[in-house]
Amino acid sequence: MSSKLDSIADCEIDTSKKFKYIQIKVKDRDSGDHKLIVRGYSHCGFHSDILDEIKEKETGNFQFTCPGGGRIEVNEAEKSIFVYGYSQSYGQPDHSKSVEIIKKKYPNWNVTFSNDVHVTSINPGTNEHSVYRLSPVKNYKATKGLRFFPLPEQAVEGLKVALVNCQRPAKQLQHEADQMTEKLNQRRFPASPKEVQAARREIVGKIRLKENNDEMMPLEMLDQKIQKAHDNYLQKEVQKKLKKTRFNWKALEFGKSEEAAAFSLSRLAPYFAEVKKVLSEFERNGFKPETILDYGGGCGSAFWAVREQWGDDFQEYCFIDTNDLITQFAMDIMRVWK
Ligand SMILES: C[S@@+](CC[C@H](N)C(=O)[O-])C[C@H]1O[C@@H](n2cnc3c(N)ncnc32)[C@H](O)[C@@H]1O
Repeated sequence: MSSKLDSIADCEIDTSKKFKYIQIKVKDRDSGDHKLIVRGYSHCGFHSDILDEIKEKETGNFQFTCPGGGRIEVNEAEKSIFVYGYSQSYGQPDHSKSVEIIKKKYPNWNVTFSNDVHVTSINPGTNEHSVYRLSPVKNYKATKGLRFFPLPEQAVEGLKVALVNCQRPAKQLQHEADQMTEKLNQRRFPASPKEVQAARREIVGKIRLKENNDEMMPLEMLDQKIQKAHDNYLQKEVQKKLKKTRFNWKALEFGKSEEAAAFSLSRLAPYFAEVKKVLSEFERNGFKPETILDYGGGCGSAFWAVREQWGDDFQEYCFIDTNDLITQFAMDIMRVWK
């Protein structure tokens, strides 16, 4: 392995209680050698901050990529380190590899990991955090193969009635629903504000570098009007480059009931199939709810999946959505329910 790589420590983590960490693959661009290292700091709010930090610090001809991230919990008194969780930006790495690396630096510590999924809930009022570890269900029986979950007849009937009452011709509604499907298929998880900022900085840096190479006059020597025009140009360029779905993520907004109708026509059946698949796994493993909270109920697909799974055998169904138009449309579909 190249000695240049040796200059980068394999493991650098805080010993404070709990913090984010990432695995980083470092490649020496000159020799092509590479190695995996671990970094975790409590001062980094986002996983991407950790990667930014090493990129800024290590100025050699290295390439840094991140196979995934998670969290580390350190108990100094007990000399234990627990590695778990995942990063929204980079996904979950194989934590066992991180443990191997950490153990070399902390040979007398008890270093363990879990590749289970953890869900963190935060109460914005009290800022209290709770972490639930989702372990595999005992004797879990997964449904084998793909199954087809068609919309129940009553839902189809309800959707038809609600669509007919809508002011749009059927053809146009279908066209809008197809466009919605296309748009949603292209959407990716939104980039965090930090990631957008980082992308912005990178683009501005590249434009400035190009300008310097083109031997532009220094900005401070230009008059105010030209400086302003230059700033506008920069802003436009950045916007243009960030206009990829991930960096340009906007919540769907329904301003008219027809938009809620197109959304329902596009999404009711696929969302129903997704929820139904999950609920059927619950039932196979002996779970049956008494009350249901449908948060972000949208066009009501979960409602129909619950009804098909457990009939009317539940005490309460609580449907919450911030958009009145889609809630209204979901109710219009449900009206056929007898
Ligand atoms: C993916 S869609 C709906 C999925 C739903 N299962 C369906 O059948 O359509 C997400 C929904 O969440 C709603 N929503 C967005 N932000 C919300 C919030 N803060 N609280 C409650 N609902 C929200 C949106 O109006 C939208 O209807």
